[in-house]
Amino acid sequence: MKIKIIFLLALISITYSTCTSVAYNPDICFQENILPIFVTKCSMNDCHNSAEHKAGYDLSTYEGIMKGVTPYHPYQSEVYNVIRGNNPSMPTDQKLDAKDISYIKIWIKMGAKNTSNCSGCDTSSYTYSGRIKPLISTWCVGCHNAGSPGGGYDLSTYSGLVTSIVSNRLLGTLNYSAGFSAMPKGSNKLSDCDISAVTKWINVGYPNN
Ligand code: HEC
Repeated sequence: MKIKIIFLLALISITYSTCTSVAYNPDICFQENILPIFVTKCSMNDCHNSAEHKAGYDLSTYEGIMKGVTPYHPYQSEVYNVIRGNNPSMPTDQKLDAKDISYIKIWIKMGAKNTSNCSGCDTSSYTYSGRIKPLISTWCVGCHNAGSPGGGYDLSTYSGLVTSIVSNRLLGTLNYSAGFSAMPKGSNKLSDCDISAVTKWINVGYPNN
């Protein structure tokens, strides 16, 4: 009996601590963590972007996303309700990753603010595995993968990314330079901190480190 009670208490405390730690995560930032999910998973293929507002939604901007969000209340937010559960209606082609769904929920619970640069700019970090790959996965791979290589570029692998560097197309797109398509397509320019990390990594010979 005693053991059972101890077990039960332990279980309650585990459940409680995981729930609370999931509910708030100050590092989740709208510009860096939430907007890219909508841009790469919802705004492509003429679905929810500035040219094509399917169901009235342009999900490529903060204002557009907020039309379907009730701050602090994920379950009253259409944008969250359509992506959660076992058979979500959105996106139509593929369920979002569990991490993306939980980030969106936490961001709404935290008040759905238009935050940016929450973790500060670490100018010393620009390795491929630690900085560049996560950045490209977040912002680019939804539209540049093996099944759907936008403009012919599959940026999901190191060698694919190198192809875009060797052809001299990568930095021009990120810097919105004349003669290049501005990337990430249909979204805001990356932060100066992110562009500087990519530039530094290329300048030292884009090592696969
Ligand atoms: C919403 C979809 C989408 C996102 C997000 C996106 N791309 Fe693209 N990208 C495309 C499409 C479609 C093309 C080909 C048509 C064009 O150039 O606009 C393209 C073209 C490119 C090109 C070739 C353009 C040129 O001028 O030669 C590069 C390089 C590129 N993307 C890099 C990136 C990088 C890096 C990111 C992330 C920071 C990114 N893209 C995010 C859809 C996207």
